[in-house]
Amino acid sequence: MMAQISITACNGPGAEIGNVDLSHGPDDDDFAAIRQAFADHGLIFFRGQTITPEQHIAFARRWGDININRFFTPVDGYPEIAEVRKEPDQATNIGGGWHTDHSYDAEPAMGSILVARELPSKGGDTMFADMAAAYDALDDDMKARLEGLEAVHSSKQIFGGKAAYRVESDAGGRLHNPDAADALDDVIHPVVITHPLSGRKILYVNAAFTTGIRGWSREESMALLMPLYTHALQERFITRFNWEPGSIAFWDNRATWHYALNDYQGERRVMHRITLEGCALH
Ligand code: OGA
Ligand code: MN
Repeated sequence: MMAQISITACNGPGAEIGNVDLSHGPDDDDFAAIRQAFADHGLIFFRGQTITPEQHIAFARRWGDININRFFTPVDGYPEIAEVRKEPDQATNIGGGWHTDHSYDAEPAMGSILVARELPSKGGDTMFADMAAAYDALDDDMKARLEGLEAVHSSKQIFGGKAAYRVESDAGGRLHNPDAADALDDVIHPVVITHPLSGRKILYVNAAFTTGIRGWSREESMALLMPLYTHALQERFITRFNWEPGSIAFWDNRATWHYALNDYQGERRVMHRITLEGCALH
């Protein structure tokens, strides 16, 4: 019998879950412990796992409905799994800047379960930043300024027809459904949300998809947002995850930002991602 499930907080955000085998489907007690760790940390890691795409899907389904990504190419035979791939000859990667997925949706996806499938010999880490801690560390004046503000989010600047991601990058050529972004309406979310699982206040803006503050000019918006982004990226709010064969990361899009490092030119990196549906944010 396996030792009891372990939950070890990282130095920065997140926790590593040990003594659990996701291929068998954790039993109900272990699943409850994992669920609690996910609510507490907004970011959990597993190592040494061997799971098939079917087991990946089965584990994801225990959390809720799967979101089929409109932009990424699905894994052959598994429409529920998006492929996050960088080929040796590609210059750009998916997620190569600080962002949180799906903030351009009215009901942003709650999170993604990312499984390492093929890793470069070195590099290709992912960094995660804790937006609850970033909010908590704001001074009271700034917290008061942010109260009641709403932000506009759009998929167009990353995925749209005029986006650098499409025009200048080979990654754009791999988009599954390149016209989807331009068809999506921009959405509004509060700048500070209350996290649906933890109840904590979260700084919910991000450089990739937030285009401004509702009712403010671009210039006024950026004057507020840029210092917030700098504040949020202090080292104490960041965990850098080094992938090994068998590693899995599961992040909460509401609680964290992430950034896939692009430092393994000439090598392939392939990840399988399942994204879970979320809810409206308040
Ligand atoms: C993503 C993403 C991170 C990575 O799948 O949303 O940003 O490390 N990927 O591949
Ligand atoms: Mn991402």
